Amino acid sequence: MLLPIEPEEITDLPFVENLCWKMLVEGATNRKSAMHQAVISTAKDNLAYIRTVVLRRVDADTRKIYLHTDNRSKKIEDIERNGHLSWLVYDQSLRSQIRLSGKTIVHHLDDLCAEQWSKTGHHSRRYYMTDQPPTTELEQPSTGLTDALTAFDYTLEESESGFQHFVVVETCIDWMEWYYTHSKGNRRARFIYANGSLAGANWLMP
Ligand SMILES: Cc1cc2nc3c(=O)[nH]c(=O)nc-3n(C[C@H](O)[C@H](O)[C@H](O)COP(=O)(O)O)c2cc1C
Repeated sequence: MLLPIEPEEITDLPFVENLCWKMLVEGATNRKSAMHQAVISTAKDNLAYIRTVVLRRVDADTRKIYLHTDNRSKKIEDIERNGHLSWLVYDQSLRSQIRLSGKTIVHHLDDLCAEQWSKTGHHSRRYYMTDQPPTTELEQPSTGLTDALTAFDYTLEESESGFQHFVVVETCIDWMEWYYTHSKGNRRARFIYANGSLAGANWLMP
């Protein structure tokens, strides 16, 4: 990764834009990257709701980013209602925060879901195999999993039952902001996209 670099070396908006997408691709593909975890925000009744998710896939060419979730989760209610998602990733070692947002497409039982589902590990499938939806209130502290799920005592074939609850949320990015912190002075840049293509870029007062 090219960062961190001296702030005075950062003179070029296309360079920064390219760097941001490289960091995002690295975040999606490298489990050890700080950007493998992202914070997403949805809105409901004029309140923001935020939570951590894994950045699962980034298509830099089309400016699309993706997460996996359960279609019974609260976030899906919010996403289905207003069709929009905000994202935040931050890597202290790269001194970079990237904020992004855009319209969403929820994929369920389609080819993209099948492709992403085939990449999910045996261990992570069990949360999609539960009868009780996420956020169900429990009588006592518990994982909410059956004994068999807790013990990973299920076959690959049995794990396919989880596919019905598995959704891939695609965000088509129309706004991205990079914030770079440095002792010599911070830098900030904004990028606007229309239909997956760059439509504007500016340096901003940090
Ligand atoms: C490190 C970490 C990674 C997580 N990754 C995901 C994820 O990829 N997808 C997901 O739905 N929830 C993920 N969660 C759980 C969410 O943060 C959240 O608590 C849960 O999805 C319920 O959110 P909701 O009620 O707003 O739908 C993760 C939590 C942590 C701590």
